[in-house]
Amino acid sequence: MGINWVLGIETSCDETGVALYHPNQGIAAHYVYTQTLHQAYGGVVPELASRDHLQKLLPLIEKSLKTAGISTQELDGIAYTSGPGLMGALLVGAVIGKSLALALNIPSKGIHHLEAHILAAQLSNPEITFPFLTLLVSGGHTMLLKAHAFRQYEIIGQTLDDAAGEAFDKIAKILGLPYPGGPHLAKLAEQGNPERFRLSRPMLDRPNLDFSFSGLKTQAYLLWQRLPQDDVNRQDVARALEEAIVETLSVKCQRAITATELDTVVVAGGVAANKRLRETLAKWAAHDHIKLFFPPIELCTDNGAMVAYTGYQYFKHGLVDTEFSVKARWELPF
Ligand code: KG4
Ligand code: ZN
Repeated sequence: MGINWVLGIETSCDETGVALYHPNQGIAAHYVYTQTLHQAYGGVVPELASRDHLQKLLPLIEKSLKTAGISTQELDGIAYTSGPGLMGALLVGAVIGKSLALALNIPSKGIHHLEAHILAAQLSNPEITFPFLTLLVSGGHTMLLKAHAFRQYEIIGQTLDDAAGEAFDKIAKILGLPYPGGPHLAKLAEQGNPERFRLSRPMLDRPNLDFSFSGLKTQAYLLWQRLPQDDVNRQDVARALEEAIVETLSVKCQRAITATELDTVVVAGGVAANKRLRETLAKWAAHDHIKLFFPPIELCTDNGAMVAYTGYQYFKHGLVDTEFSVKARWELPF
């Protein structure tokens, strides 16, 4: 019997994501619960994250099965994020996923969170074919990868310090915006004047494909500190930061295409939801005849659909886990 229904579970950080994937029906159920209890602390508190996943996960699995109109008996495989991420949070998804699979006597597979992000765009764009360049921009990672084939990913550039999403979130916090700040900062930046401040575009003077956002973050912080802290200044600082991050990502992405001679770019991770990044890359891609793909916004940030889909690819290739492990740190390539 082939693999049809795959349950995907994502609990690597502060999103409880559950989805059901079927090769003919696509994503038949898709729920993401974003934990709000961290807002009081301005950042994710690992122990609180684990407990909240524990409370939300089983109800979300039941709800997903109901939405798809199937019973647990119809599941053919279970995929869960097994790293990298917060150890306790990962354990909740992994233990529940693995236990359910054992009880149902079906295969299970621990999935690398970044591989799930890389493959997410294929869910809505089945025409994406290997090899392609991936610009992976999230709260924890910023990298350029050559995706040669399924399971074959080569990092060709990455951040030396902060991730792009981290820079968005930290400056958003300094500007007094709620956590996670990236989307709030992006919204505020829409009203900002792009001509007023110019922050540096880090590492663009270097020939390599690496990034660094820590200095830019400090620059934005110092700029904000010396200004009267009013709404107009808040908007203009937000805009200056967004312009600097988007231009830096976009220029390095263009250089990576030239260096690799690839003709396809897949943008992935939470920051791929950024409207200005999407527009800037789209303009360049149209001009340079590059095939450019983004996941839909709801598949950019953490979710169970990308895990279910990646799990399906593994099961299809007959790759299942015989052991159980989660890894807080887990470098690509495999
Ligand atoms: O992929 P993701 O959900 O989690 C990680 O694996 O890190 O990415 C979350 C990151 C956060 O830093 C968040 O602020 C950022 O993505 N983000 C955005 C936007 N939407 C999410 N950053 C800028 N503009 C957005 N619209
Ligand atoms: Zn992520």
